Amino acid sequence: MNNKYVGIIGLGAYVPEKIMTNKDLEQVMDTSDEWIVERTGIRERHVAAENEATSDLATKAAQKALEDANITAAEIDLIIVATGTADMAFPATACLVQDNLKAINAAAFDVSAACSGFIYALVTGSQFIKAGVYRKVLVIGAETLSRITDWSDRKTGMLFGDGAGAAVLGETPEGYGILGVDLGSNGSGAELLKVPAGGSRNPATAETVLQRQHYIQMDGNEVFKFAVKIMGETTSKALQNANLTPVDVTYLVPHQANIRIIKSAAKRLGLPMEKVVVNVDKYGNTSAASVPIALDEAVKSGVIKPGDIIALVGFGGGLTWASSIMKWYK
Ligand code: COA
Repeated sequence: MNNKYVGIIGLGAYVPEKIMTNKDLEQVMDTSDEWIVERTGIRERHVAAENEATSDLATKAAQKALEDANITAAEIDLIIVATGTADMAFPATACLVQDNLKAINAAAFDVSAACSGFIYALVTGSQFIKAGVYRKVLVIGAETLSRITDWSDRKTGMLFGDGAGAAVLGETPEGYGILGVDLGSNGSGAELLKVPAGGSRNPATAETVLQRQHYIQMDGNEVFKFAVKIMGETTSKALQNANLTPVDVTYLVPHQANIRIIKSAAKRLGLPMEKVVVNVDKYGNTSAASVPIALDEAVKSGVIKPGDIIALVGFGGGLTWASSIMKWYK
């Protein structure tokens, strides 16, 4: 074990221009703005243009992160894209981003861990730097969930949005950067949140499309129960690994799925809501992109400052969960 410290040295985010409000949704599904706000906290979400795919959003977020880190694309050794909505089944979206950025020295691959994906990618990428294999790693969470959202299903259709967030990882001074992590999974809950068709188990056919099996299906109540329990647990474990406790946390940056889930996780950790970064009202659930978009907003608006203890926490399909405690460097 070496004593290198690794952290985020640049951040960027991008959301598509088009906004879909709850009122817009009232036109396409049996719902109301009031119900959605009360049950989820979501008021609007961004939706990709017809010609925009996940790699396009990822590239724009990455360009901002490179600029923020003040490095060139050629300095990137590895690109990891966390996504559940890759441009294609293969090649990896990370390869398309590598080409867009002209990151000529970078290896590239995708990580599939649903809404926990960005933190999984962050932890994975940081290991290459800690091990001395690479110096700069670009980690991106990017999604065009609008392409797999069933706008006619009111049980899922109001939840999701599109966007991307990116972070450049590099070596940080002693005591800064990632201090503790926790990753976990429970595949016995795979059925709770899935896109049933289009993979090797159930290849896409005219029939699967007719049955709308190429869209997200979810048992909302079960996912809700899992989420409130796991967010507190995984954050506590990561804090323990960092030799810290919840009172040390300056800001919690949780996966933005539902304001009620976020509030109950904060309560379990004994954190007041002033210490919790929330933007689910503006973007909905952008899956792997939600944590880096929230982090980017909190840092760029001056809320998060150097020296703050930040707890990132995510949960999602798989089932998966992930958390990372950082002493903010940049
Ligand atoms: N608009 C209006 N009514 C709706 C609705 C909508 N969009 N969606 C559901 N309802 C109705 C239901 O049909 C039900 O009506 P009924 O009592 O007449 O049958 C009622 O509202 C309550 O439904 P329920 O599913 O119990 O609501 P809920 O409070 O559990 O909220 C979710 C539903 C989906 C918002 C909530 O379960 C949730 O957020 N789950 C976690 C989802 C998530 O975060 N997934 C991503 C994980 S990464």
